[in-house]
Amino acid sequence: MEQYIIEGGTKLSGEIQVKGAKNSALKILAATVLTKGENIISNIPQINDIGQLIEIIKDLGVEIKKDKKDSLKICANNINKTQINEELGRKLRASIILAGPILARFGEVEIPHPGGCLIGKRPIDIFIDGFKALGASFEEKENSYKFKAKKLKGTNYFFYKISVTGTETMMMAATLAEGTTVLKNAAQEPEILALAEYLNSCGAKIKGAGTSTIIIEGVEELTANKTKIIPDRIETGTFVVMGLLTKSEIKITNCNPSHLENFLIMIKRAGGKLEIGKDYIKTLPTEKFKPVDVITHEYPGFPTDLQAPFTLLMTQASGASLIHEPIFEGRLFFTDKLNQIGADIIMCDPHRVIVHGPTLLYGKTVDSPDLRAGATLILAGLIAQGKTIIGNVYQIERGYENIVGRLNNLGAQIEAN
Ligand code: EPZ
Repeated sequence: MEQYIIEGGTKLSGEIQVKGAKNSALKILAATVLTKGENIISNIPQINDIGQLIEIIKDLGVEIKKDKKDSLKICANNINKTQINEELGRKLRASIILAGPILARFGEVEIPHPGGCLIGKRPIDIFIDGFKALGASFEEKENSYKFKAKKLKGTNYFFYKISVTGTETMMMAATLAEGTTVLKNAAQEPEILALAEYLNSCGAKIKGAGTSTIIIEGVEELTANKTKIIPDRIETGTFVVMGLLTKSEIKITNCNPSHLENFLIMIKRAGGKLEIGKDYIKTLPTEKFKPVDVITHEYPGFPTDLQAPFTLLMTQASGASLIHEPIFEGRLFFTDKLNQIGADIIMCDPHRVIVHGPTLLYGKTVDSPDLRAGATLILAGLIAQGKTIIGNVYQIERGYENIVGRLNNLGAQIEAN
């Protein structure tokens, strides 16, 4: 599937179910490496990133079998290698999450140099510092990094910069370390709490996940269990913007609005009309939007993964808004694609743009630069005049299951070929 062809100007209606969270499923699948016995993980999104991680985990010797449609049976009793396949690992930056579990369970791990990506260099200094703090030795080889430790030792570790996967991989490693580990200035994403709850159900002793201080008491071994992946808050926010931009009434179900408090406040400040239930959000037709300044911030701040859709929404607001993205240095470059289709966005520096609106958008041919910007280009195509053709849709299918089928179910006119 190389490109999407989108007819603009269609109204949407109906219900769309949110899938399991990509950024939770990736970590929980990695965490099964720590366990003995058979795990059953359900509500797994059927997306490329998950498929890639499954290939990497299978390559290590983990047995993975389909259970029902969106659930897997996973048994890590017979892992027979501790080196992540270089070719597979390079394609999925998130595969670095496996480093902690493999190191903790087997005393060594070798990971390929994880490439950067369009949104930023994506360094891994925090992972190196963290594993060293847990007592691991570190060796930089030509194409890989190797960590070794007979037995990890609990430590006190302060993250000089908040890192989501840095927090997750150290929390996982610490579950089998000797003694107690205290992680300070830890990330607080809901996906981290979900990971800790799964690990604790397997016998880990983790306290404070979801806050900035996490305390992990090492245990001897972890026993497999079952868990259901939490709803994808980023998919939820993307659909909220989609419903508002298309002035449609759509009901977004199977979601958890409490994971999106900051984002929903900014949507309301922008004039977006919503009906919010316990596990659904309904968008209501909104004629005018107000300009709102946004700065992305680690959870519970405004999610960087929803910056792109919100920036698009601001192109339809009456006035000027400042979008500040301090977390990634390359995450605002997609705005040149919005300007190509009629937006009026000025880049002040790689971390800040000023959006002037409202502007009419016109269908053009554009390539999807990265996952979240790609999804945003789909939303732009839904409101642009005429036809929008989006290339490089692989990027979008990394993180949104059956996005064309699900949006067409709401009345969108998207052709994939
Ligand atoms: C996670 O990436 C998410 N990915 C990202 O979602 C998300 O944008 C990001 O967290 C921030 O919320 C997954 O969970 C798989 P970080 P992660 O480590 O953990 C710097 C998406 O679209 N840093 O929290 O890799 C880093 O460069 C993806 O689903 C270091 O300097 O991000 C960034 O500036 C995109 N050294 C900042 O920290 C390190 O060793 C935050 O990055 C690690 C990170």
